[in-house]
Amino acid sequence: MSCVSDTHSSRGLNLAPASVEDYRDLARKKLPRQLFDYIDGGAFQEVTLAANRSDLSRLQLRQRVLRDVSTRTLSTTVLGEELAMPLILAPVGFGGMFAQRAEVQAARAAERAGVAFCESTLSICGIEEVSAAVSRPIWFQLYVMKDRSYAEALMENAAAAGCTTLILTVDLPVVGQRYRDVRNGIAGNISRLKRLRRGLDIARHPSWVRHVAIGGKPLTFGNLERALPDAKVPGDFQRWIASQFDPSVTWDDLEWLRRNWSGKIALKGILDVDDAREAVSRGVDAVIVSNHGGRQLDDVPSTIRVLPAIADAVGDQCDVLMDGGIRSGLDVVKALALGAKACLIGRPWAYAVAARGEAGVDHIFRIIREEMRVTLGLTGVTDVKDLDRSALVSD
Ligand SMILES: Cc1cc2nc3c(=O)[nH]c(=O)nc-3n(C[C@H](O)[C@H](O)[C@H](O)COP(=O)(O)O)c2cc1C
Repeated sequence: MSCVSDTHSSRGLNLAPASVEDYRDLARKKLPRQLFDYIDGGAFQEVTLAANRSDLSRLQLRQRVLRDVSTRTLSTTVLGEELAMPLILAPVGFGGMFAQRAEVQAARAAERAGVAFCESTLSICGIEEVSAAVSRPIWFQLYVMKDRSYAEALMENAAAAGCTTLILTVDLPVVGQRYRDVRNGIAGNISRLKRLRRGLDIARHPSWVRHVAIGGKPLTFGNLERALPDAKVPGDFQRWIASQFDPSVTWDDLEWLRRNWSGKIALKGILDVDDAREAVSRGVDAVIVSNHGGRQLDDVPSTIRVLPAIADAVGDQCDVLMDGGIRSGLDVVKALALGAKACLIGRPWAYAVAARGEAGVDHIFRIIREEMRVTLGLTGVTDVKDLDRSALVSD
């Protein structure tokens, strides 16, 4: 389901990309459809995926005039770390399938932009490879696996690689049904016909095959290689991954996490005020208001809708971050006005790296930074840290 209006993009006009939406269009052209849909799609009927965008769009900014806005500050501090702007690259699994060594490219761009990059457990490039490419510490995202000793080894590797912050993703005890992936034959029962269609889809993208599928190092999951030394193709890993999500995880597992991680801990996937309160009572350093970009449970609220109540409940006790549907600097300003300290972006960096590699990710940072600067100037705000609800038109 498309949640982007064509009038806001350069689709069909072959113009240079000027917005995140333009990068989405470019990524659609570059990638085999099964991969584009994997990035772009959501769960079930994609109602929540669309709501993440439409609820943000519905919010209106207050235009304010005749305030001195000659200096505007975007920098902020999140989890004790200085960010040049309130943005973090969200953990995105399978990233290295969208462009050659995509996680390394994105981490380098994040470092140049002065923001944090979060490595997914399910990245193609392993934590050591990505950390070695940058001097800024990266963040690490962990799924709680049935094999706890492997999860412990991953945390040890992340600490050894200099990671300061661990994001524990808690909204994936089971995997959401993603119908696009079923239709494209990358999830569910894979018939011969679907396999054939997948092959044809890939054959229609020789440039992707040349540069990504066979052009670089083999496409394995860097963080999982030690668990599966004999795995050769992505399918071997995917079967293991599917068997490893642990539906028995509870709040008590945070004690196990704390015993194994001495840095900061952020819980990602909080969508309910009671869960946010529980997280704080268990001593986490941040909550990330997230519905996994509409990829898990459908018909749950958009993140921007629940953000204010969560920020009110726990914002004075921990950092509140938010993701889901952020596509512009205007969106970031709206989220900050409703209580987020910073936003994570997932699909935007996936589209950009697929479309133009590292230069694409550099570009979306420039785009969003400029959009934020303009938005602050026209709302009469000179520092992102001063944003509050007064920046929005109240209903
Ligand atoms: C292709 C893709 C893969 C993702 N993989 C992960 C992952 O491995 N771990 C995780 O915690 N979240 C994952 N997410 C969710 C993102 O971290 C983030 O919550 C979401 O993308 C935010 O919404 P947005 O894409 O609208 O910015 C993934 C999202 C996408 C689009």
